[in-house]
Amino acid sequence: MCGIVGYIGYNDSKEILLNGLEKLEYRGYDSAGIAELDHDHINVFKVKGRIAALRQRVDDTTVSTLGIGHTRWATHGKPSAENAHPHQSASGRFMLVHNGVIENYQELKKEYLDGIAFGSETDSEIIVQLIEKNAEKYRDTTKAFRQTISLLKGSYAIGLIDKQDRDTIYVAKNKSPLLIGLGDGFNVVTSDAMATLKETDQYLEIFDQEIVLVNRNFVNVQKLDGTAVHRSPYTAQIDLSDTEKGTYPHFMLKEIDEQPLVMRRIIQSYQDDFDRLKLAPEIRGAMKRCDRIYIIAAGTSYHAGLAGKQFLENMAGIPTEVHVASEFSYNMPLLSEHPLFVFISQSGETADSRSVLVKIKEMGHPALTITNVAGSTLSRESDFTLHLHAGPEIAVASTKAYTAQIAVLAILAVDTARAKEIRLDFDPLQELAIAANAIEVLTDQKETIEELVRSNLATTQNAFFIGRGSDYFVCLEGALKLKEISYIQAEGFAGGELKHGTIALIEEGTPVIALATQENVNYAIRSNVQEVVARGANDMIFSMRGLEQDSDAFVVPQVHELIAPLVSVVPMQLLAYYAALHRGCDVDKPRNLAKSVTVE
Ligand code: F6R
Repeated sequence: MCGIVGYIGYNDSKEILLNGLEKLEYRGYDSAGIAELDHDHINVFKVKGRIAALRQRVDDTTVSTLGIGHTRWATHGKPSAENAHPHQSASGRFMLVHNGVIENYQELKKEYLDGIAFGSETDSEIIVQLIEKNAEKYRDTTKAFRQTISLLKGSYAIGLIDKQDRDTIYVAKNKSPLLIGLGDGFNVVTSDAMATLKETDQYLEIFDQEIVLVNRNFVNVQKLDGTAVHRSPYTAQIDLSDTEKGTYPHFMLKEIDEQPLVMRRIIQSYQDDFDRLKLAPEIRGAMKRCDRIYIIAAGTSYHAGLAGKQFLENMAGIPTEVHVASEFSYNMPLLSEHPLFVFISQSGETADSRSVLVKIKEMGHPALTITNVAGSTLSRESDFTLHLHAGPEIAVASTKAYTAQIAVLAILAVDTARAKEIRLDFDPLQELAIAANAIEVLTDQKETIEELVRSNLATTQNAFFIGRGSDYFVCLEGALKLKEISYIQAEGFAGGELKHGTIALIEEGTPVIALATQENVNYAIRSNVQEVVARGANDMIFSMRGLEQDSDAFVVPQVHELIAPLVSVVPMQLLAYYAALHRGCDVDKPRNLAKSVTVE
């Protein structure tokens, strides 16, 4: 949520900042702005809306070698040019960008900033006003910066420039992601290495409660008390082409099509030279020791967790609970004696999940994170990590991360089963290879799905997804995908549960999408479909080869039932994609949303 970028060097900062913000737009796109120091003058450009609008607004006749930029997902204060960052201090001396939430901003405002005229409704502005006040007091920007940062409660990644100092970007971090990119004669500040990959692939991690003075030729990392910190940089392992759309009209479509490749990459990464599973012995040990698994996740990752529970219980024989992260912190269930927490997160930055991680670590429990982002906060702060190898996921609606999460959970379950000498009739690497081929077959059938959308979903106000067993979990994901990008009111239900209330919503023509990939519930789900058809619903059954009937709308290739969600979700993703397209929605950047939700 919100992205920040900064540049200090010998070239003009503008294009680097704008390019960076374009890459960070997935983190929020309510408003955007940049500030650059031009001799002793600060140029500020801010707009409500997207980076494309900011580009138009920026005056490209100005030149500056030092600047900061921000793309915003509104928390405090509506999306507007006034609330857009960078925020300026009262005298105009300091400019600041901030990602996060300052929890004590009202207390700080009351205690220290009485009488100051604020230009925005944001919590962020108090930081820059307080820095100015402290700079007047201490006559030293570093001291004023450190003093101010130590008063803040909450999450922040901050970049600050001072009109009286043309050699420094002042940076601070707590809970929100932030990296320093290192160059030859320049340095950059960024929320995500992907945004500044064109400039450098060398990055320095910044930890919570550290501040950094970023100069053209050096970077000075300190703890809040001023103690120097020495840390080596790492090379970002991201392929620049993975961050581009290429010939695709949207990232979401590209990412849907990448799923077979991701499956094959996972197979390669988790296979040793003898075609055996390759997991760290410490992970195997933790899995063997635990008496119950608690999966913690949000949104699509939570849905992948539901599918994963099936593997962990059926194959590895470990009782597994799946919890929505934002609820778990406040309503913690009675824990077992030897719990293992498994965090599933594409970004590895989701604040709701992180707050659970912090709590359970305080309680002394072990944690495993399954994530797509190596070096992300959840990965760093957990005991163990399993990588998704899905490559950067840029569309706000998650697709390839979901299928990768299920695949990795299947591998984890089978590896544990083998370690516990449980005999299984399931070879995950072989089954995933079959799933990869099946997904390829599905992504070749886009026209059929588009036609289904055109005739059934293009103008509807609402839609229902029904399924039983693991099909129900895919229904939850199918409904989430459809509602978040096409704005059709869509809900997923357990097929048998409809008659207990929701069936009252079925009217003449209401679309009901049913999944039938599980043999043991094939008959039952088809009966549920008959119940809604009898009340006028427009049914579309998506079945699996071997279970199909003549009237089914679509048949997916046959795969092992346990991993059917990997395959049956693909037509759901495509339904959502084409519904959004036909309704003229912004597929990759749906309204009100952002990827990587770093506020609770
Ligand atoms: C929906 C979607 C979100 C995320 C959720 C968790 O398409 O992408 O529901 O799944 O915000 O994000 P991560 O997986 O990054 O923790």
